[in-house]
Amino acid sequence: MHLRCSDPDCAATLDLHDRALSCPVCADLLEVVVDSIANTPAELKRMWLERRCSYAPLDASGVWRFREFLPDCYSEVVTMSEGNNPLVKGHRTAQWCGVRNLNFKHLGWNPTACFKDLGMTVGMTEAVYVGAKSVGCASTGNTAASLAAYAARAGLTAKVYLPAGQVSQNKLAQALDFGAEVVQLEGSFDLALERMLHSPDRDLYFLNSINPFRLEGQKMAIFEMLEQLGWEVPDYVVVPGGNLGNTSAFGKAFLELQTAGFLDKVPRLVVVQAEGANPFAQMWRSGAAELTPVEQPETAATAIRIGNPRSWKKALRAVQHSKGFVMDVTDEEIAEAKAMIGGDGIGCEPASATTLAGLRKAAARGKVDRDAVVVAILTGHALKDTDFIIKSQRFEHVLQGEVQL
Ligand code: F0G
Repeated sequence: MHLRCSDPDCAATLDLHDRALSCPVCADLLEVVVDSIANTPAELKRMWLERRCSYAPLDASGVWRFREFLPDCYSEVVTMSEGNNPLVKGHRTAQWCGVRNLNFKHLGWNPTACFKDLGMTVGMTEAVYVGAKSVGCASTGNTAASLAAYAARAGLTAKVYLPAGQVSQNKLAQALDFGAEVVQLEGSFDLALERMLHSPDRDLYFLNSINPFRLEGQKMAIFEMLEQLGWEVPDYVVVPGGNLGNTSAFGKAFLELQTAGFLDKVPRLVVVQAEGANPFAQMWRSGAAELTPVEQPETAATAIRIGNPRSWKKALRAVQHSKGFVMDVTDEEIAEAKAMIGGDGIGCEPASATTLAGLRKAAARGKVDRDAVVVAILTGHALKDTDFIIKSQRFEHVLQGEVQL
């Protein structure tokens, strides 16, 4: 396996363990190239299912269980049984959005309650392999929490840059609990990322989603989802869009599985952004060839308050290949959809609810067929942003003083 520039017109190659984060020729992002697989899809599907009965750490991970599609050089793997996240049927939510066959893939049910753990197990394992002593990221909160936890497991120092006052307290608390060094910076996530990228600490191993190993782990959400569906390809996969790492990882998964003969078609990828942080949706609507960043992104879904998504080129290729589309929803629509997901007994954080909000809008406009099989990706747990819930729910009975029973 090796690294390759993700721009097909460049396709420069680098050693797998090169610590570069962008192509030395054209500066585009890099990706891991998976070697061709010796086993047949039928053999692999059987082997992967058998591993579900094993307690060996690699088999117990919903990422490393599919390790034939990951680098195989590691003697030490940093894992916490991430993945293994169920597909949950939407009930009231299905009625509400008007799509009958609605399934939620809940990646919030991970060790640190977010999909980032899927990527972090691979990213942290690579960090250990290359001998890093400290790891870092800029974050809207979830990457920071996940990085801090996995760094603690690996015995590495964690440094996280957060946009001051724009991160949920629950996520900040997680990062602190796991012992990360937290730096809060004035300004947006985009600025924090810029600062981290230009950090004078050249030894810091960088673990934002522009790190290609992160995406290798995140792509396994799709492997697991397809296994859960008996390898029947759904019609749509709906995903929130922030920095667009997840969209890129999902596109890579579909392409690799198609190339290896697992699938004869791919689902349409639908990316949903918040209206106040929607550069990708704007670009999609206008048909522009380049992304224009949103200078002051604003949304109550703080996880995706991002104006300059780094992985937009990879994500665009993924959406185009799948014949999908990109859209946006308002904060009101997000809040309403989030309350519906809670009301279905599932719960999620605000950014995740963009999927249901987007689906409802797309179905109403006839862009998603009501009989379609749909998987909506829930990226974070309800407890990731409790402040949002408390502020948005109305209490009907406020009892004052002592209650006489
Ligand atoms: N949902 C949640 C809960 C997130 O935390 C993020 C990103 C996204 C969706 C968007 O995913 O960036 O791959 O398009 N959170 C990052 C962070 C930026 O720092 O925690 P994406």
